[in-house]
Amino acid sequence: MPRIGIISALHEELAAVLQRLPDEQRESVAGRDFWCGHWHGHALVAVLARVGKVAAATTATVLIERFGVDRIVFTGVAGGLAAGVRVGDIVLARELLQHDMDASPLFPRHEVPLYGRARFAADAALSDALAHAAQTVLAQPEAAWGTAVARELALLHTARLHQGLVVTGDRFVATALESAALRRELPDALAVEMEGAAVAQVCHDYGIPFAAVRTISDRADDSAHLDFSRFVRQVASPVSAAVLEAYFQKL
Ligand code: ADE
Repeated sequence: MPRIGIISALHEELAAVLQRLPDEQRESVAGRDFWCGHWHGHALVAVLARVGKVAAATTATVLIERFGVDRIVFTGVAGGLAAGVRVGDIVLARELLQHDMDASPLFPRHEVPLYGRARFAADAALSDALAHAAQTVLAQPEAAWGTAVARELALLHTARLHQGLVVTGDRFVATALESAALRRELPDALAVEMEGAAVAQVCHDYGIPFAAVRTISDRADDSAHLDFSRFVRQVASPVSAAVLEAYFQKL
């Protein structure tokens, strides 16, 4: 039976997922809590990675080595970079890159040394299934999220799904200057976060499918930190849970 690993960075991001597992059992490894359980009859292991690339890579490795997961989905929040990627939108990573990787002049900027690549592709089939789940949820936000979340998003705009490049680095991007620099360097980047490309690299090493789905919590500008925790708890966490619910229902 397949066993799916689900990673989030923060407790607030995973809270709504954990509430939906009927039979979860907690196990602590390497200072992290892993919740093993079932969702719509499918075995899963959910875990909080904490923040940043090292924490994410360690967590992914434990999920694979110790818990035997055969695919990993990362869910959480990201800062919007591309024009039109707005707070409340969902971004599905088709490719991931570490924007702070720089071993130049030995290797081209952003290339992960000795891998011969800067970009790691998400698994196409897993991402297609999550894209379908996200579209289902976006088509009926009230049914999926409840009225409070739907109302909050409706106040913002009609939320959309974007698919493409997500960039990762060990920095919370919280100035307009920095997000403009990222847009200049990586014009096709949709969003920025702090874990995805690290997990993508670990999954590449082990040859297991990986996908990442993120709700946009801010625009990676000078106001990125305002309202962040409340948004994650009240909007992003229910959105993640609804998308994963739709995914597991169809699996
Ligand atoms: N995750 C959510 N918002 C972010 C930002 N502005 N920078 C990095 N990671 C984020």
